[in-house]
Amino acid sequence: MKAVLDDPTIISLAAGFTANEILPLAPVQSIVNTIIDQPARGQNALQYGSTIGRNRLRQSILTRISEQDQLTLGPNGWDESQVAVTTGSQELLYLLGEILLDPDDYVLLELPTYFVFMGILHGLGAKGHSIPTSPDGLDIDALDRTLKVMEERGTLERLKFFYLVSYHQNPTGYTLPFENKRAVHERMDRVSQKLGRPVFIIEDAAYRDLGFHGDAPRSLLSIDQGKDLVVYTSTFCKPFSSGLKLGYGILPRLLADHLLRQKGNLDFGSSNFTQAIIEEALENGAYQEQAQVCSRRYQEKMEIMAEALQQQLPSDVSWQKPGGGLYIWATLPSHIPTSMNSPFFDACLRRKVLYVPGDLCCFPDEDNPSIPHSSIRLSFGAASPEQITEGIARLGQAYQDISSASRSASMIPGTF
Ligand SMILES: Cc1ncc(COP(=O)(O)O)c(C=O)c1O
Repeated sequence: MKAVLDDPTIISLAAGFTANEILPLAPVQSIVNTIIDQPARGQNALQYGSTIGRNRLRQSILTRISEQDQLTLGPNGWDESQVAVTTGSQELLYLLGEILLDPDDYVLLELPTYFVFMGILHGLGAKGHSIPTSPDGLDIDALDRTLKVMEERGTLERLKFFYLVSYHQNPTGYTLPFENKRAVHERMDRVSQKLGRPVFIIEDAAYRDLGFHGDAPRSLLSIDQGKDLVVYTSTFCKPFSSGLKLGYGILPRLLADHLLRQKGNLDFGSSNFTQAIIEEALENGAYQEQAQVCSRRYQEKMEIMAEALQQQLPSDVSWQKPGGGLYIWATLPSHIPTSMNSPFFDACLRRKVLYVPGDLCCFPDEDNPSIPHSSIRLSFGAASPEQITEGIARLGQAYQDISSASRSASMIPGTF
């Protein structure tokens, strides 16, 4: 496997990397010059900052999200003390796990979900239940059943949060409909009242600014007024520059204090220079422009991948075009497993193409056996158009390899 990964001829449709060819070189160069050309400003940017992050940046973030979500600001609504800037949204997700979870605590997750977050949960000894999601949204009946079972078993008391990737999800590309958000909020509010403490909803909006059609539903913050249950996390990495590695959260006040104490212990603040760049990019419009550049480019690449899938894979492989983000989720017939030790994965390695197996995107949950053993996540972010077309052709060849191997095996008496 290691030898294959080191092979430069391998095509990776696995990594969730951003596209090199559209990274914002000119805007960042001009912003850096603007900052450095003014000594006081340059010195400020090159000095330590604060744990919570730069004030103007946090104000811009709050203004932007409050406009998108029609949030009330001020004493009866949100203010900048609830906005924290972090080293990518990954740091924020890690800190949230750390302050909210003790070993054997429970979380709710989508099935499938962002697999790197599961690493955090495993590390903290958390348990979880997965709620199936589909292009139509989350299975709210399954959520109700899960909550009921947890109550009967006495584990509801250990439920700490529901983690949702609500826009152009990693790994499926699905966007959670607004009615689903209402339903989830209503359930978590009810459980919170029953337990006498908040059961939070972490809404990971990492791909919100990478929509192809500009019609995304409002976030859960828009439902949360006065309840303080929603933690909104997002990132500047995907729609601007992953190398700047900056994310942010909008948090309930109670949680913001805990989180910042922990972040202070960890790094007493994310890179101040990087923040100064994003702060200027938000103020001069470079961020908004770049997010559009990214969305257009990813839409083009998604169309190329969709066209290749249409041509190279048989009709028993199901998938659909996402409305944004970086991923297509494809499901093969159930007799073709896709896990890392499957014949299909091996065939893909031989054909030199990589994908993320669907079963890696599922939190182990003995109550929910519907792990997507035959699904794969394909990323169209980093690969060039030529690599995408060639990579999907190789995937199609690997599929043929497996189909003909199982056909010949079935013709030998005594084998399956
Ligand atoms: C759903 C989701 N959340 C969070 C992250 C972390 O992003 P970053 O730390 O680069 O902001 C990723 C990265 O791929 C992601 O897919």
